[in-house]
Amino acid sequence: MNLLTTVFLVLIFFTCAYAEKPHIVFIVADDLGWNDVGFRNPQMITPNLDRLAKAGVILNSSYVQPLCSPSRNCFMSGYFPYHTGLQDGVIDDDAAKYMPANLITIPQKLKQLGYAAHMVGKWHLGFCNWKYTPTERGFDSYLGFYTGSEDYFTHLRKMKEVKGEVGLDFHLNKTAYRDANGTYSANVFANRAVEIITNHDKSKPLYLYLPFQSVHTPHQVPAKYENMYKNIENIKRRIYCGMVSALDEAVGNITKALEGKGLMDNLLLVFTTDNGGPTFLAANNLPLRGAKNTLWEGGTKGTGFIYSKTLLKKTGYLNTGMMHAVDWYPTFVELAGGENTDPNMDGVSQYDMLINGGPTKRNEFVYNIYDEREAAAVRYGDLKLMQGSPGDHNGWAPLPHVGIDEDVYEADNQTFPPFMLYNITADPTEHFDLSATYPELVDMMKKRLENWKKSRVPAQSNAGVPAANPEYYGGVWSPGWC
Ligand SMILES: *[C@@H]1O[C@H](CO)[C@@H](O)[C@H](O)[C@H]1NC(C)=O
Ligand SMILES: *[C@@H]1O[C@H](CO)[C@@H](O)[C@H](O)[C@H]1NC(C)=O
Ligand SMILES: *[C@@H]1O[C@H](CO)[C@@H](O)[C@H](O)[C@H]1NC(C)=O
Ligand SMILES: *[C@@H]1O[C@H](CO)[C@@H](O)[C@H](O)[C@H]1NC(C)=O
Repeated sequence: MNLLTTVFLVLIFFTCAYAEKPHIVFIVADDLGWNDVGFRNPQMITPNLDRLAKAGVILNSSYVQPLCSPSRNCFMSGYFPYHTGLQDGVIDDDAAKYMPANLITIPQKLKQLGYAAHMVGKWHLGFCNWKYTPTERGFDSYLGFYTGSEDYFTHLRKMKEVKGEVGLDFHLNKTAYRDANGTYSANVFANRAVEIITNHDKSKPLYLYLPFQSVHTPHQVPAKYENMYKNIENIKRRIYCGMVSALDEAVGNITKALEGKGLMDNLLLVFTTDNGGPTFLAANNLPLRGAKNTLWEGGTKGTGFIYSKTLLKKTGYLNTGMMHAVDWYPTFVELAGGENTDPNMDGVSQYDMLINGGPTKRNEFVYNIYDEREAAAVRYGDLKLMQGSPGDHNGWAPLPHVGIDEDVYEADNQTFPPFMLYNITADPTEHFDLSATYPELVDMMKKRLENWKKSRVPAQSNAGVPAANPEYYGGVWSPGWC
């Protein structure tokens, strides 16, 4: 009896001490709207996303930044962008702007905890010097592009404003990569992800960061995906929906590879958008108000879900707990058995909420605090205070249909009071500004905003650097000019 007990205890000890760390696959969609997934909108054909979301946990209060670079900064560092100088706009192609080098990135942190870390897709966190690029910021390998958008097939990036600044933006590690010329990026990235999964040494936990180009502009998709939406007459919406379905197929291929390799049995899959949908470019955020690049919920409340075959104590429900993009970093660290030792980090671990179905660890956050203009939004419990202009697309844009082109949703030139107050729990679609009714609540929220503002850092300059021109680098957007 004693011997059996001892053997049993020893077994338990070894099982616990050597329980394998879970693999983490973090998939980011670009510019995917709240209403652009099949599990919310029957117009969308996304069987893979729907299956994973329904078998996992749909995140119903998962906030992101209004734009690409700022959200990626959150995912990678756990810091709000108004603490890293990335709060204003994105990182322009020829701007010497980057995620500050002193920050320890999530792949760096996970590598310390024994992980292999790979990245496939869009970086958009600066590349003026090699030290700001993925393989010098923690990733064992990288295939993707550095800027914010480009042609899906040629992988050429042309700066809009500056004539002549056009170049290939595609690298495998640090080498310009031309073999994907002509291949749609959703296929290139899915194939690369499958290759990484297939070749993965299973003695190590895997962190795979997969920020797709899909479904950012330009509106481009192979015909077979566009043809899935023959019923949609608006051409931009038809192509956009096709792009979403190509992304869905890519996710399906990746999950198949994870199953095939046997990684699914101990894995957390996260799917999130980087910001709300650009309704002025055929995305849709209904019933939410506003669009990408606004402080409204339509710009900042992200589509997202988590899925795991084995790790989640509770599945198949809508999680309404408040979380923010900065929370993924400390959540992954806890999942990996590590500890977040940075007292300044804005993120908090949501392990208990996501894995156990427990309460959220957060009751407030900063939507953003701009530097270029007096505009900001903060949340405290149910309440949201907005200062200044929330942005340029302030309505509830309907699903695009024939005759309604993007121009209809152009800047709507509304004027707003200096401060607005919404109760997001009672009024998630932001129809009722309460600022005139509850001035004492506005004052309370203004104090909280002032308190947040104390720690803001100046925005980094987005000024163009002529030496960035790819003509100096053999026609390839390359580091070396800061
Ligand atoms: C990328 O770089 C890593 C680290 O140097 C290396 O292990 C890997 O093989 C490289 N991948 C390719 C495809 O060159
Ligand atoms: C891509 O392929 C086309 C057609 O073969 C060729 O004209 C073009 O130069 C290639 N682009 C790059 C960046 O290599
Ligand atoms: C998914 O895999 C199938 C079968 O290999 C392939 O035909 C398809 O192009 C892949 N889709 C994507 C988006 O990579
Ligand atoms: C989920 O979010 C939507 C959009 O904000 C909202 O309308 C809905 O009430 C939320 N669901 C729950 C259960 O809170």
